[in-house]
Amino acid sequence: MSARHFLSLFDCTPAELQQIIQRAIELKKLRQQRIAHESLKGCVLGMIFEKSSTRTRISFEAGMCQLGGNAIFLSPNDTQLGRGEPLSDSAKVMSSMLDVIMIRTYAHAGLEEFARHSAVPVINALSDDLHPCQLLADMQCFHELRGDIQGKTVAWIGDGNNMCNSYIEAAIQFDFKLNVACPEGYEPDAQLLAQAGDRVQVMHNPEQAAAGAHLISTDVWASMGQEEEAKIRKAAFATYQVTEKLLDMAASDVVFMHCLPAHRGEEISETLLDDPRSVVWQQAENRLHAQKALLEFLVV
Ligand code: CP
Ligand code: NVA
Repeated sequence: MSARHFLSLFDCTPAELQQIIQRAIELKKLRQQRIAHESLKGCVLGMIFEKSSTRTRISFEAGMCQLGGNAIFLSPNDTQLGRGEPLSDSAKVMSSMLDVIMIRTYAHAGLEEFARHSAVPVINALSDDLHPCQLLADMQCFHELRGDIQGKTVAWIGDGNNMCNSYIEAAIQFDFKLNVACPEGYEPDAQLLAQAGDRVQVMHNPEQAAAGAHLISTDVWASMGQEEEAKIRKAAFATYQVTEKLLDMAASDVVFMHCLPAHRGEEISETLLDDPRSVVWQQAENRLHAQKALLEFLVV
């Protein structure tokens, strides 16, 4: 199938990613001025969610409406996907009726399998391995607040999870330095680390990772699907909480991001989201603008 997919940040060139972010900034201005922009009139997005979501669902659904199109929420409980219809068959049928499909799922391989058989673009709305849509919003947010991220230092504190893997991809695509601080045994994807080379350093000390950073980001200690590991992870990550004190060790103009939902008192201190250095609400809102730009890029 020849459709253009967005399963990873590597599915776009660095120039295309910059183009999407610039467009997201323009679309945000249009929305702030309440200027209608219906570039996807008549288009329909299928949204397959095998995991929970607040931001991703609302931003994709509202985004399609704002662009003049429609979105259909598809839960595996209510479709034949949940009853074992093969991904390849589902992809062929769904893509014959829809213009673009987003999937939030567990195994990344399932997403790739679906995309292989889809005649229309497939977007990764989070898999166990990657969360590229979140990185579009994060990179837009950094650009809006601090300008070009090229050459800057980013610190990822906590689990080497899907978000961390996407930060590694972003470090390569946006050309920044990434310090990952995680407990032993919770490192990010080894293949991605090898691909990133010297640009990404893995360490086991949050203070060392945060030193001089221009952006600090973290995420939950137990991701969706890891609920049973929550207790053991809480112990393993106990010294990896991001606090105001940790931000004090970073660059004076550091910003703090979290993809949300956050657990106050676990991966962040109780009050961190109220700190002026936290930009999480702007970051979350940007999911809307960045994904509208992505939808236009893939569909129009
Ligand atoms: N950050 C993010 O993807 O949030 P949701 O799980 O609410 O979609
Ligand atoms: N790492 C988290 C991100 C949620 C948006 C998870 O996969 O649950």
